[in-house]
Amino acid sequence: MITKQKMMGILLLAVSLTVSAQNKVPQLGKAPISKVIKAMTLEEKAQLLVGGWRIIGDYGKTFKERENPNGAVGATVPIARIGIPGTLVTDGPAGCRLPAERKGDSKKYYCTGFPIGSMLASTWNTDLVNRIGKAMGNETLEYGCDVLLGPALNIHRNPLCGRNFEYYSEDPVLAGKIAASAIKGIQSQGVGTSPKHFVANNQETLRTLNDARISQRALREIYLKGFEIAIKEGQPWTIMASYNKLNGLFTQAHYGLLTSLLRDEWGYKGIVMTDWTNPRDSKQQVHAGSDLLMYGMPIQVQQILDAVHSGQLSMQDVDRNVKNMLEYVEKTPSFRQISRANAPDLNAHSKIVRQSAAEGIVLLKNDNTLPFSKKVNEIALLGQGSHNFLAVGWGSGTVYMKYIINMEQGLLNAGYHILPAINDIYKKVDGEPEMKKDALKQWAGESDIAVITISRNSGEGSDRQNIPGDYELTGTEKNLIANTSRAFHAVGKKVVVVLNISGVVETASWKNDPDAILLVWEPGQEGGNAVADVLGGKINPSGKLPMTFALNYMDIPSSKNFPYIDRHIKDDWGTAEDRATKNYGYTDYEEGIWIGYRYFNTNKKPVSYPFGYGLSYTTFGYSAPTISKSGDVYKATVTVKNTGNVSGKEVVELYIAAPKGTMDKPSSELKAFAKTKLLQPSQSEKVVLQFNMSDLASFDEKTNSWVLDCGKYEVLFGASSIDILQKTSFYVKKGFAKRVKTVL
Ligand code: BGC
Repeated sequence: MITKQKMMGILLLAVSLTVSAQNKVPQLGKAPISKVIKAMTLEEKAQLLVGGWRIIGDYGKTFKERENPNGAVGATVPIARIGIPGTLVTDGPAGCRLPAERKGDSKKYYCTGFPIGSMLASTWNTDLVNRIGKAMGNETLEYGCDVLLGPALNIHRNPLCGRNFEYYSEDPVLAGKIAASAIKGIQSQGVGTSPKHFVANNQETLRTLNDARISQRALREIYLKGFEIAIKEGQPWTIMASYNKLNGLFTQAHYGLLTSLLRDEWGYKGIVMTDWTNPRDSKQQVHAGSDLLMYGMPIQVQQILDAVHSGQLSMQDVDRNVKNMLEYVEKTPSFRQISRANAPDLNAHSKIVRQSAAEGIVLLKNDNTLPFSKKVNEIALLGQGSHNFLAVGWGSGTVYMKYIINMEQGLLNAGYHILPAINDIYKKVDGEPEMKKDALKQWAGESDIAVITISRNSGEGSDRQNIPGDYELTGTEKNLIANTSRAFHAVGKKVVVVLNISGVVETASWKNDPDAILLVWEPGQEGGNAVADVLGGKINPSGKLPMTFALNYMDIPSSKNFPYIDRHIKDDWGTAEDRATKNYGYTDYEEGIWIGYRYFNTNKKPVSYPFGYGLSYTTFGYSAPTISKSGDVYKATVTVKNTGNVSGKEVVELYIAAPKGTMDKPSSELKAFAKTKLLQPSQSEKVVLQFNMSDLASFDEKTNSWVLDCGKYEVLFGASSIDILQKTSFYVKKGFAKRVKTVL
């Protein structure tokens, strides 16, 4: 007979045996990763490779809709038996995209709205971008996430791409260096980044299907280059593979791209996650090197299991990705059990926004108008954008910020007075009202200056499809600029146009009318204050264009192969006809490497504003430069002096004109840049710019090699890509041809 005591003894033994069996299961962080992998079931492995957007709890328990406490856009799944916590990822490039409201909680969790990517690139200031990165990383950490899904650095191939605002530049060196600084800043806070979208997501139309057909040279020199710089310098924890295809294969299932190039050639060690794609061919994606299928559906777990069972997917491939995932998880704050206070210093971050926005503003034109003279007090504030000011674009690159300082508030905060009659009109209408000439005449008499804000927004999932009225200003907007200029000039007063835009607009046809033009992009939550700082002269603008402003849209070489004519696409997949249509189902990048200034400058084609251009309230002089070489590294030195009357910062752009070899090369290409500190009048700074010998090579697709030609290399120091202020040169006596294995 079993006594009560005996029964208790048996129970205790059973419990302790279970506990010790569990203790023996290798735990992540305690046992070597190889042992953890051995201990995992195939089901657990498959689950780790698929995101858990729709799943909560351990694999094997019920699949439930995610109860996501902070509203993050993606998750990886916890596997408690092995000690693997879940992790959370959040968008995006202009700061955390997390809702301020949380279920059952009356507290508000606001995130800071930083300037858009194109504006960060316009600062040309890697230290500043690093500081912004730190602030973004801090919010990611504080609000309970492990990875910030950014920076976004696809090339501005065409100004109508709907997501250009998230992206940096038409030039891969500028994009790559700015991205590397952002990555380093964000990751310094102990959270990860996900540079995206790898690669060639240069249009939104039919983005989940579009086949980007690109030459090996254009890929290597332009589209991959920025990622190569960002990845090698920034060491991101994760990379996001784009939606589109590259030369016939989905990038997410492209072994050559994700394994041969990214890991074998570039030495990348982090994970690759897919962009938020509905289930595709999971086995191909896993094999190619997509470690984490996002957003993640249970069917993808099943597909992986089935593929392994049927021998179509090898265990080596699965284990390789599982190892990458475990290494990723080990780095995360969720794994390290970092406590999150949910209380980032939003005040400190908004100060960084104001400073970075002011530094990314580009002064395009200034006929003795800015900064405002002391006499300016009463402002005629025109244009719908002055009142409905845009701080950020839409889609996953947006931020739910606490407030947006618009132009009116910014100018009022700075102590200016706004003509009330105009405000009343704008408050009553949604669109851009036609302003009568008589009214403009009256306001010209009543105010000291006119400021007209022109706004354009764009976002994820669609391209800007209209040239008239979107890329070009509307008739009403052009009339407003022309008529205001006429009325104000008639009484000796000035007109300033403020461009509050997400992407390039046509400027050539109207830029002669106003006296000054200020490009302020979408500058984040402190926008109005930052613009007022520049208009009033508290800050001297030091931004420079990270892309070309062409004279006409059709001058841009990629315009021949871009979906600029509105074609209604029903859903992401389009119709069979859409898929077979040029620029929808596929896009030929016929222009090759001839993007932006590489095309315009080489062919001496006039533009409205060139790449690298931007005015200042002061002037700068450049001393005769020197160049030295140590090993493979070139160091160019130039002294920049503030020769004007007010303090200011200068961007120094270093371009190289390579000798003629067997390939056609751009007349010059950006290889390095630097920004001075704030220089007082007469103050100088010695600026040192570095580049490597390998940065000078061009890609020869006949031999699949990077080729460095012998001969004379000119080093050009510019205040823009065409405003070259100093020159020097050096000779390469021994060139090279370095073959690479991968053909994409
Ligand atoms: C976008 C990504 C974004 C993801 C998650 C996708 O549609 O392309 O950039 O990170 O959604 O929101």
